[in-house]
Amino acid sequence: MRILVTGGLGFIGSHTLVELLENGYEVIVLDNLYNSEAKVKEKIEKITGKNIKVYTEDLLNKESIEKIFDENKIDGVIHFAGYKAVGESVKKPLMYYHNNLMSTINLLEIMKDKNVKSFIFSSSATIYGDPGTPKYVEELGRGKTTNPYGTTKAMIEQILEDLYISDNEWSISILRYFNPIGAHSSGLIGEKPNGIPNNLMPYILKVASHELEILNVFGNDYDTPDGTGVRDYIHVVDLAKGHVSALKKIEELGKGLYVYNLGSGRGYSVLELINTFERVNGIKVNYKIVERRAGDLAEYYADSSKALKELGWKTEKTLEDMCRDSWNFMKKEIG
Ligand code: NAD
Ligand code: UD1
Repeated sequence: MRILVTGGLGFIGSHTLVELLENGYEVIVLDNLYNSEAKVKEKIEKITGKNIKVYTEDLLNKESIEKIFDENKIDGVIHFAGYKAVGESVKKPLMYYHNNLMSTINLLEIMKDKNVKSFIFSSSATIYGDPGTPKYVEELGRGKTTNPYGTTKAMIEQILEDLYISDNEWSISILRYFNPIGAHSSGLIGEKPNGIPNNLMPYILKVASHELEILNVFGNDYDTPDGTGVRDYIHVVDLAKGHVSALKKIEELGKGLYVYNLGSGRGYSVLELINTFERVNGIKVNYKIVERRAGDLAEYYADSSKALKELGWKTEKTLEDMCRDSWNFMKKEIG
């Protein structure tokens, strides 16, 4: 089976390529390198010992996508490509709506034309909004999103539902990720954010490597065990494996629209993450408690029982693994 992976040189895409190749899938990659580097291709090839074909193209350019479908027999698509920075999306909503929505619509239109109807989409726990319970189960459905990035995810989920209603020959899997961190155990691929990161682990890495001075912990007065925010961190390799499980399910069941949370099913606080990082890596992370960050919720984590029951998938790696592998990648990057 040959899979087109859009955004395949990015953080989650690159790890998923490794898992796909190791499970015998053939892959074609499309990425415009907006938030990734061309050298990731060689790194994936080094890890897997297999060659991959990469098209440095933009999904906004419909002709370039068409060319890929004409040149290759594609059986299915995993769609990672998109912009993902929450804060930036608030400042530049049109840029986010344009890229995330138009690229997805272009892709789906061409898939429809070429009669390729297997599609896996990267959604996010952010689509639940604030459902009033910390345990997010798929049936809660989409809530009120709090930023344009999250709204693009909710809108694309809706588009996919409408598409499936119009033509139930499609096999669509919507995967709602919780908080992916960690890196491949080789230390060759991982997350490389540009500039000052917004997310917790990338910020910890920059403080640990002395690129940034101190981590701001956003609030210690939440109604959580230690007062700091609680999230469901998931190792990116476990997340990548979830895509292989979703693909196998589509192959087995065929047509349908499936929705799965991909999370570990338990939450860790900001302080637990910092303490674990310090312990497993033997490194101090300077931090100070500051005001809460606007828009943050106290606590949420996945109910991941549906993915276990239907996909046979669950996370295997621990918070220790996530902290060790993230730092291992960072150390290699900074040399
Ligand atoms: P990433 O930025 O590392 O990867 C996305 C890739 O898409 C990048 O390589 C970028 O160059 C490419 N891209 C963007 N726009 C493109 C376009 N128009 N044409 C071609 N390529 C384009 O992000 P990631 O962390 O790997 O996330 C992958 C997907 O998962 C995204 O859709 C993201 O919104 C979603 N997601 C991520 C997280 C997270 O915390 N990382 C959480 C939930 C959902
Ligand atoms: C955010 C996004 C979410 C996105 C996810 C992964 C919001 C509201 N949600 O989730 O849509 O899918 O990133 O990209 O922005 N924290 C600190 N100090 C920091 C950074 C974070 O204390 O410098 C705390 C936060 O308050 C939170 C936890 O760490 O409690 C995790 O934050 P973060 O990594 O930014 O992810 P989310 O806010 O959960």
